Amino acid sequence: MAQVSLREVSKIFPGNVRAVDRVSLGVENKEFMVLVGPSGCGKSTTLRMVAGLEEISEGDIYIGNKKVNDVPAKDRDIAMVFQNYALYPHMTVFENMAFGLRLRRIHKPEIIQRVNEAADILGIRRLLDRKPKQLSGGERQRVAVGRAIVRKPMVFLFDEPLSNLDAKMRVQMRTEIHKLHLKLQTTIIYVTHDQVEAMTMGDRIAVMKDGILHQVSDPITTYDHPRNKFVAGFIGSPPMNFMRGKIAKKERRIYFEEGKIRVQLVEEMYPKLEPYAGKEVTFGIRSEDIYDKLFVSVAPPENIVRVKCEVYEPMGSEVYLYLNTGIHTFIARVGAHDRPKVNQEMDMVFDMSKVHFFDKESEEAIV
Ligand SMILES: Nc1ncnc2c1ncn2[C@@H]1O[C@H](COP(=O)(O)OP(=O)(O)OP(=O)(O)O)[C@@H](O)[C@H]1O
Ligand SMILES: [Mg+2]
Repeated sequence: MAQVSLREVSKIFPGNVRAVDRVSLGVENKEFMVLVGPSGCGKSTTLRMVAGLEEISEGDIYIGNKKVNDVPAKDRDIAMVFQNYALYPHMTVFENMAFGLRLRRIHKPEIIQRVNEAADILGIRRLLDRKPKQLSGGERQRVAVGRAIVRKPMVFLFDEPLSNLDAKMRVQMRTEIHKLHLKLQTTIIYVTHDQVEAMTMGDRIAVMKDGILHQVSDPITTYDHPRNKFVAGFIGSPPMNFMRGKIAKKERRIYFEEGKIRVQLVEEMYPKLEPYAGKEVTFGIRSEDIYDKLFVSVAPPENIVRVKCEVYEPMGSEVYLYLNTGIHTFIARVGAHDRPKVNQEMDMVFDMSKVHFFDKESEEAIV
């Protein structure tokens, strides 16, 4: 069993820099956990503490049922794949993959068998005699992963392994690592700053910012129910639209108001929003939850917002419309058949059952 558990783990660098701040995270056996967040939020430091490459300042880390705070990296039964693959340039692919096993004094026939097995899984058998400089970026990446696989570790740690690859190769390797996880059935902790990678690969996503863990949940829950404004804005592309405005209560109905905008809340949200009547909140709506009224058969009049289209961005299968309310600009993702002119006034419909509200001060989600 290889669950990994971080309990109130902190990393304090000299100068009192709290790079990781009391992070508690339980990664289950065979789970694919993605650690995601903007640059400098403490992802690599967290992973390096799990690997044993960085000392833990506070808290405890368990691998399996064993506390590993004082266990050296080489005895932790984990393998790490880094962003810069760090292959030995003078060795062949075979030798690169076999190197770690040799150090562990594993018998030659078993080394050959394990390297061949890993090479088959990764589809790089024909490359075994080449040197790293004779490989493409994607192939080098596979060799780096292969070097980790042959070790048969309890836990894999990946630190931005795809960031050196071009966009197309990244998508391809993304699926390959996904498949690899299904095949190997090991616990994986995967670090990335790319929220698309996080959404598509993770069983669960752990979202970090400034050393603090903000939310741990499966991708869809993270997308549909972000716990605060940061997670809401970080996960999803284009990012969630935010507008600052007021909650208003009139004749038993509750509205969100901002300049010319006035939309009515769905009744399920009343209990949570009623206490905010007369107060400012942050309203959030995803671009796909805004429709052009022309293409909506029944548009409730209380959900219609008049805007001006500033930019029209064709994406192929859909179009991004940059819309101005007079105060805010927001983005709507609509079908490719929708072709408003620039500076054209248009009526948009908000799907009010999908909107989010955040407390202005704490930025925590209200609903
Ligand atoms: N050895 C160190 N000494 C002092 N501060 C450090 C050290 N290593 C990292 N930091 C700081 O700790 C914070 C977290 O760094 P870390 O490398 O974990 O970020 P990250 O989330 O992996 O970012 P990136 O996406 O850019 O790789 C940063 O503010 C960084 O400047
Ligand atoms: Mg990093």
